Amino acid sequence: MAEGSLPGKPTSASRTTLSHIMSGNDTNLLGTVHGGVIMKLVDDAAGAVAGRHSGGPAVTASMDEMVFLEPVRVGDLVHVKAQVNWTGRSSMEVGVRVLAERWNESTPATHVGSAYLVFAAVDEDGRPRPVPQVIAESEQDKRRYQEAQIRRTHRLARRREIKELRDRRRRVEPKP
Ligand SMILES: CC(C)(COP(=O)(O)OP(=O)(O)OC[C@H]1O[C@@H](n2cnc3c(N)ncnc32)[C@H](O)[C@@H]1OP(=O)(O)O)[C@@H](O)C(=O)NCCC(=O)NCCS
Repeated sequence: MAEGSLPGKPTSASRTTLSHIMSGNDTNLLGTVHGGVIMKLVDDAAGAVAGRHSGGPAVTASMDEMVFLEPVRVGDLVHVKAQVNWTGRSSMEVGVRVLAERWNESTPATHVGSAYLVFAAVDEDGRPRPVPQVIAESEQDKRRYQEAQIRRTHRLARRREIKELRDRRRRVEPKP
């Protein structure tokens, strides 16, 4: 299907927040919350956004620039906020911001992490299918769209360069 043949969808139509209280089951050996627990929540929230935006199944193609800014503790109420930043033909960049606040205190939430994920919308055979173009609404959405476009260019360039290097090495050093 040609690019742009589906009606566009505004960012706000799929923006989602997933909230979870951290318990003793979520800790690492240091007693703080395991990074993998946060990454699962990030992937879950981003997957919900990608499914809502694309109107069907979507799979994680990549997760990059996951940063952990502050430790998360048992008893923290974690909010994982996700939205579509950018769309291509069949892929979507989802931006995720992770906030934490004490579950029983009215102190402001702290920004504890962020990530960018690429999801590909797939059909029932797992093949990429077209997605609606995202319509950036606010100035912040427009900035995120432009920054996502830069990340996309870098991801494609990195993938291409690594593939070319490997192909060259394979030609010079064929497998025994
Ligand atoms: C993601 C997947 C569907 C891509 O399939 P493919 O045959 O390589 O298809 P394409 O090359 O056409 O890629 C589809 C889109 O995803 C993007 N994409 C694919 N791999 C990517 C990556 N590593 N990083 C960023 N974008 C990627 C492509 O740029 C393309 O975007 P566009 O259509 O908007 O231009 C396929 O690799 C897959 O199924 N991977 C496993 C996903 C999964 O199981 N995730 C959960 C892990 S437990």
